Formats: sequence, C-alpha cells, structure tokens
Amino acid sequence: GENIVVSELAKLMGVKATELIKKLMLMGVMASVNQAIDADTAVLLGGEYGIEVKVKFLTEDDLIPVHDDKEEELTSRPPIVTVMGHVDHGKTSLLDRIRQTAVAEGEAGGITQHIGAYEVKMEKGTITFLDTPGHEAFTTLRARGASVTDVVILVVAADDGVMPQTKEAIDHAKAAGVKLIVAINKIDKENANPDMVRNQLAEHGVISEDWGGDYQFQEISAKANLHIEDLLERVLLEAELLELKGNPTALAEGIVIESKLDKQKGAVATVLINRGTLNKGDNFVVGTEFGKVRAMFNYKGASIKEAGLSVPVEIMGFSGVPQSGDRFVVTPDEKTARQVADLRSDEARKKNFAEKSAVSLADLFNKI
Ligand code: GTP
Ligand code: MG
Repeated sequence: GENIVVSELAKLMGVKATELIKKLMLMGVMASVNQAIDADTAVLLGGEYGIEVKVKFLTEDDLIPVHDDKEEELTSRPPIVTVMGHVDHGKTSLLDRIRQTAVAEGEAGGITQHIGAYEVKMEKGTITFLDTPGHEAFTTLRARGASVTDVVILVVAADDGVMPQTKEAIDHAKAAGVKLIVAINKIDKENANPDMVRNQLAEHGVISEDWGGDYQFQEISAKANLHIEDLLERVLLEAELLELKGNPTALAEGIVIESKLDKQKGAVATVLINRGTLNKGDNFVVGTEFGKVRAMFNYKGASIKEAGLSVPVEIMGFSGVPQSGDRFVVTPDEKTARQVADLRSDEARKKNFAEKSAVSLADLFNKI
C-alpha cells in the first residue's frame, strides 16, 4: 500500500515529529521517527490537527522526470541498420563481408562478435548493424512497440528476383516507416539480371532513383566482394538525409534487443542506446526489473565505461532478466529505479488478479 515515513509527514504538516509520535500512540499506533505509517492513518492524524491529508498515488511520470530535448542539445547519431531479404539471397554473406570490410578498415586481429549487433566504423562515419535475423527483429520487437531500425537493406538475388519474403520485407519496412535501400546481390553470376529485379520491385512501388523513384539501389556481389563499400556509403548518405539526431547529455535510454541468464555474469542484456550516454554505475529500470550498471561490454567483448547514441552494449547488473523489446531507462537514483519497478510489478499483479477474477466470475455465471 501507500506509506509515508513519520518524519516526512511531520515536515509536510509543520508539526514536530515527537509530537506526531505521541499523538499516534494515543491512537494506538506505535511508530518511531523513521518508520512508515499507512495512508489511512496519515489522513486520521491530519484530522487531529485540522489538516487535510490528501493521498496521491505516484505514477511513473512523477518518478521519472520528463525532459524534452532542446534543438541545441542534439547531435547527429549513427544509423541503425537491419538486413532483410528472401531465403538464400545472401543476407549472411553480406553481413560477413561487411564485418570483413570493418576489419580491413583497421580493426586489429579481426572481430569476434559477442552480441547480436555490431558497429562498422568507416572514414565517413559509423553504422550500427543489428544482426538478429531481420524478420525476427521486426516482428518480435515491433509487436512490443519498439522500433529499433532506421534503415533496412533489402537483399535481392539478381538471378532469382522478388520472392515472398522480399515482399514481406517491403511491407514490414513500409509499415514501420523505415528507409529501404536495395542491394541487388549475386551480380557475379552468369544468369544475373539486375534489370529484371528493378522491374519487379517497381511493380511493388520500390522504384530506383535512376528510374526516377525515391529508392537507392546498389548492385553488389557478397561472394565476389563487389561494391560493398559503395553500399555502405549509400547507407551513410541515407542517414544524412534522415538527419538522425539524439541528445548525448541526457540520462540514457535504450531498447533491450537480447537478454539471457549467464552462468558467470548473471542476468545480462544487450541494449541499443537511443538517447543520452550510459555510464558505469548508472541506476536504471527496465520493465519490472531494475539495477545498476556494474559492467558494460561492446560487441567485441571489451569492457567499456560509457556507451553513446546508437551504440549496442551488453550490460551486467540487473535484478532479473529483462525481456527483449523492453525500454531501458536510467533514473536519477537507486530509490527511483526501485520505486518504478515496484509500481510496475504492482500494476502487473493487479492486472493479473483482475483477469483471474473476471474468469472466475464468468465461471460462476456459467454454473448458475
Ligand atoms: P538464409 O539465412 O537461409 O535466409 O540465407 P541468406 O540470405 O543468409 O543467404 P546466404 O548468405 O547464406 O547465401 C546463400 C547462398 O548464396 C550461399 O551458397 C552463398 O555462397 C551464395 N551467395 C551469396 N552471395 C552471393 C554472391 O554475391 N554471388 C554468388 N555467386 N553467390 C552468392
Ligand atoms: Mg543467413
């Protein structure tokens, strides 16, 4: 229930705490200065002094201060990209090739990927790739109201053309309002027919810029390593047009893209930061869980002290395993994080109880 500590109530009423304790004793309530009394008792106690005590139920909005980012606080942030396309059209080959491109750009010793996302740093900018299978990222995360992708690279094999999952990917991207860039893959093949792909996509409203449409197309070969950097440059160009921005100084926020219970690390989750900068030691709430950032790791598994906009980061320090799609929010302090998590747990319990009661009532009526 709703409680208030005696000393806090005394301050609000402008009465000495020792005075309140005496009065409480007369009412048959034993409480010390630092103990909490329930709302009903507080209301009765107020009445004794002719003070009207009103009970206000705190909401999340009371606990987590809302801060609207001002224009001058915003800086540009890297785009978050998902690769989608029909079976066997070359999604995995392309992602592998992109990772190698990143290695070629000066990563020492290659990249061992530890989390379902990674960053590709190029001279012209950084791109974050989500490596969860494209459709999964869309269907599970979007079903939970989380939008995590800025750009979709749609891979279409030049020898196979538009297929059912190609159409599905177009629909997903359109529904989510996400920019689409087409990669016509396998152009090294003898029977490759890029113009056939352009024609088929045009029938689905995806018309390339050189045909007078709005979509960037790039012909590539993941296998023969053709035009991969051109494709990445198109992604950066698209990001520039989108003017992706965020406030790097705000308390961090992000979305859980993966989570698990690790034998050594305990509950861990990969969070994609989409607001502010996350620091080691930050308190946070995520779903009905809360915690403090005890350690953070980048996609290479290296320990880091802070994570900025569009950075995917594995975090340790959760009270329990959060769900993917959950919103991760840094709070001003530990107390707030706990309070919000408690509030949500209460809420979930009430909802659960209401649903169960509804069922048993229905059962009852059925029997009558
Ligand atoms: P799923 O994960 O099963 O949906 O497939 P995918 O889209 O990840 O395709 P994947 O990268 O596994 O490639 C499928 C096949 O196409 C493999 O045999 C690749 O070697 C081949 N392949 C991919 N890209 C190219 C390319 O540019 N040229 C040629 N010739 N073959 C390619
Ligand atoms: Mg694959």
